[in-house]
Amino acid sequence: MKSKTIIISNRLPVKIVEQDGQYLLSASEGGLATGLGSIYKKGENIWIGWPGIDVPPERQDEVTRQLAQLNLIPVFLTAEEINGYYEGFSNEILWPVFHYMITYANYEQTYWDAYKKVNDKFADIADSHIQNGDTVWVHDYQLLLLPCLIRTRKPQVTIGFFQHIPFPSYEIFRLIPWREELITGLFGADLIGFHTFDDVRHFLSTASRLSSANYADNIVTYQERQIVVEAFPMGIDDEKFEKFKDNELVKTHIKSFEEAQAGVQVILTIDRLDYSKGILQRLQAFELLLQNYPKYQGHIALYMIVVPSRDSVPQYRELKEQIDQLVGNINARYRTLNWLPVHYFYRSFPIEVLSALYRTADICLVTPMRDGMNLVSKEYVASRTNDTGVLILSEMAGASKELNDALIVNPNNIGETMRAILQALNMSLAEQQVRMRNMRSNVTKFNIHLWVKNFMDKLEEVKTMQASLLTK
Ligand code: F6P
Repeated sequence: MKSKTIIISNRLPVKIVEQDGQYLLSASEGGLATGLGSIYKKGENIWIGWPGIDVPPERQDEVTRQLAQLNLIPVFLTAEEINGYYEGFSNEILWPVFHYMITYANYEQTYWDAYKKVNDKFADIADSHIQNGDTVWVHDYQLLLLPCLIRTRKPQVTIGFFQHIPFPSYEIFRLIPWREELITGLFGADLIGFHTFDDVRHFLSTASRLSSANYADNIVTYQERQIVVEAFPMGIDDEKFEKFKDNELVKTHIKSFEEAQAGVQVILTIDRLDYSKGILQRLQAFELLLQNYPKYQGHIALYMIVVPSRDSVPQYRELKEQIDQLVGNINARYRTLNWLPVHYFYRSFPIEVLSALYRTADICLVTPMRDGMNLVSKEYVASRTNDTGVLILSEMAGASKELNDALIVNPNNIGETMRAILQALNMSLAEQQVRMRNMRSNVTKFNIHLWVKNFMDKLEEVKTMQASLLTK
């Protein structure tokens, strides 16, 4: 039988909504879904994950059949499992610790129990689809135990793992009560990928300190198995963003946006609601500029899109309130009868609106406190087909390792961020063009398709290496 590839991630690349008693499916437009589309949509290949919606047991067969038509296999989770595994362990422990927000972590034993149980559930479902000889690609921090759980069930399978968020230094990672289990859970993989070389370094040193593993160069040896650890900086579907230049709807949005903001320099920020994104610090930098340089009042505007996310986790709810308050204060203090400093939107927008904003904003301000990669910065660059515009980027985002022509800032330094905004507002067209051209060539070359290819090629290479070790 022909071998196949199985993608596994917490969420399936599909949005399901219940309408008039029916489940309606729409394929995700996200970059990862597009990139991996070249894999999971082919032949016998499949993608396993949580459908992101609570489906009652009596209707799970129906949803399973619908998803099967798209090569998708659901892992149904109960409300209790979502609470313990997703909101709890993944987003109240791993997320804050991996983003260095250690005081936010809530080390609940019941969260760990749920995390183990759900990783096991994923492993059982994967097991029923995997044949020896298949290749499995597991994604992200919600499934750190899965590589080992699959290896135990199917020893001959090839397993890749990619983490989309940062991997912290040993001193941070060691705080987690279940640190050894998490690290050895990953050791079931043959290839482990991160966005940056720093993440790789942190993982290697953590792995050797918390287990009997040792490493040389980027190869970890653990219980006679060898695991390759490497950086694969993720790219975007650059063509999708370039092509919007000829889209009629995008052109209409641009026209009305330019009319509304005539004479105003626009600064754009787009994020999921998350404390790792530095939204409050960025607002403070903008306010400092209005305060210190009053001549800009009436001539600049911050367009801030915050996409709702994880709102059942307490810290996210608190952050939302803090943002609401700060935006309210800035607008109340500085607005005039015909000018608004901060245009704040707490919702998601269709891609055509985002593209219009990317294409018209003079500056894109991307200042996370910590970010695995940050794809918004790359989407802005890919959208700037006329090579104008300035990207201000946090040095704590993985993307800053590649987009060196951005204005790089430390997001904790509010004064520095303010000065970068000033520099961007006054940058000559010639300088904008040189910087943007360099960044655009990077984003175009190292796109999502190359990322998928590089990872899969490496996995194939590692498979050959493992096979030759076994025959020695
Ligand atoms: O980038 C990290 C990540 O958790 C992805 O795995 C996910 O697609 C995204 O953030 C959104 O998170 P969530 O699935 O929790 O809404």
